[in-house]
This record gives sequence, C-alpha cells and structure tokens, in this order.
Amino acid sequence: MIRAAGVMKSFGARRVLRGLDIGVNEGETLVIIGGSGCGKSTFLKCVIGLLRPDGGSIEVDGVDVSKVQDEVQIAEYRRKFGYCFQEGALFDSMTIFENVSFGLRYLTDIPVSRHRGIARDKLALVGLKDIEDMKPAQLSGGMKKRVALARAIAAEPRCILYDEPTTGLDPIMSDIISELILDLKKKLKVTAIAVTHDMKSAYKIGDRIAMLHEGRMIEVADPQALKSTKNPYVRQFIEGHREGPIRMKLREYGEE
Ligand SMILES: Nc1ncnc2c1ncn2[C@@H]1O[C@H](COP(=O)(O)OP(=O)(O)O)[C@@H](O)[C@H]1O
Ligand SMILES: [Mg+2]
Repeated sequence: MIRAAGVMKSFGARRVLRGLDIGVNEGETLVIIGGSGCGKSTFLKCVIGLLRPDGGSIEVDGVDVSKVQDEVQIAEYRRKFGYCFQEGALFDSMTIFENVSFGLRYLTDIPVSRHRGIARDKLALVGLKDIEDMKPAQLSGGMKKRVALARAIAAEPRCILYDEPTTGLDPIMSDIISELILDLKKKLKVTAIAVTHDMKSAYKIGDRIAMLHEGRMIEVADPQALKSTKNPYVRQFIEGHREGPIRMKLREYGEE
C-alpha cells in the first residue's frame, strides 16, 4: 500500500533522512524503531504530507505524495490516514466529543447529525464510555492516549500512523494500548505504521519491525527474526546497551 524509496529530508545542515527505503503491505502493521531524534516522526510526517521530502518518493496507492502540489489533492490524500500524534495533542479547550469528531468536521462530508454516534462508537472501541462531555484535563494519561486513538480512527482511515503510542505510560497501560492497537487492526483491517522505542510493544504489535539509523532502514525483519539478528546496531538497540557501535558513532559526531 505504501512504498517509500530514497526518501531524503534535511533541516538546515542536519541530514535526517538519507535515502530511506521501506514498503508497507495492505493490512500489516510495520513498526519503526530507532534512537531519539533519528527521524522517526519526520518520516511519518512525510508519509502523511505534513512535511515534503527533499528527494525520493513516497507512493500510497500509486500516488506520489511528494509530487502532489494541489491543496485539494493533498487533503484527499490525507483522508486515507489517521494520525496519532506523539504528544497525544488533544485540544484542551474542546470536549472529548469535539476532539474525536474534529476530523469528521474538517475532512469528511458526514452530516453533523451523525457525529455524536460515530464518536460514541469509536470511544467504545477503545474502551471508553460516557466521557464525551468531559475535557482532556479531566482524564488520565492512558485515557488521553485512547481518546487520541479514537480520534485517529473516527473517519475510518485505511491506514493509521501511531507515533509512540505507549511512551509515558506505565507498563500495564502500555500493554493495554498495545492490545488495543492489535484489536483495531483485527476489527478495522487497517494498515498501520507505528513508531516506538518500547520493544515489548514493538514485538507485540509488529508484523515486521524496521530499524531506522542514520537516515536509513538498516534492518527489516519479523519480530522473531529481529530477536536473533546479528546486526550489532540493532542488537545494541533492542537489548538497550549503553556501549556499542551506536554510542561510538555518537562520540565521533560529537553529539550526545
Ligand atoms: N521542524 C523541524 N525543524 C528543524 N529540525 C527538526 C524539525 N523536526 C525535526 N527536526 C530535527 O530532526 C531530527 C529528527 O527528529 P524527529 O523526527 O522528531 O526524531 P524522532 O521522532 O526519531 O525522535 C531531530 O534532530 C530534530 O531536532
Ligand atoms: Mg518522534
């Protein structure tokens, strides 16, 4: 469904994506792992058309988003996606109902009279009930993440992009969110890309796991194969060792 080839993206002198290649098959969940600041969120933003790559192509259903200029076409393209932001990013001044139905109002022609029902259904899918009239400040961290999931699926996208869906949650809540992501995949048959550095969640939700390092995917494997990888960079990352080739590189570049 998605094919990224040779994607390049720099911010000033910082070359973040340096020829990234990856494909995502219809119905699968691809997990992207990699160190903080390696460009995972940048890649998701390129996929959804929020950032324009400097080079390469990202095709979704055969349409190259990096070449789409027309605003109407970009809006149509974005409708294929539900996006769960890293920060959750709920609108604090809006009620939960207004948050969940936000995309319905701006991205779809679904009549307003149906929005309440849709919001209620999507909140039920993520295990929440009777909170439509509350404000985000009244919810726990885990509930906010679930509202963000409900918002991402409200317009029934074909593909959901999750940016660190479990970061900042306790291990039990992380596991509940991981189960929820699996559940949504089964119920909605969506294609998904999930960025995370929570390896437990990655193994659980990923059909395949790709590791982003220095702007490229240095390994793509199913969870079982990844666990026995010989790639020293991937080993260091998945085992969480302080010493190893990744650290060495950081020293060489003078970054910490
Ligand atoms: N809009 C931006 N302007 C300038 N630099 C950015 C911008 N977005 C991201 N970066 C930089 O690009 C790098 C990758 O960021 P990001 O994709 O957010 O990393 P990750 O999600 O893997 O932690 C970081 O060094 C970050 O500071
Ligand atoms: Mg990020």
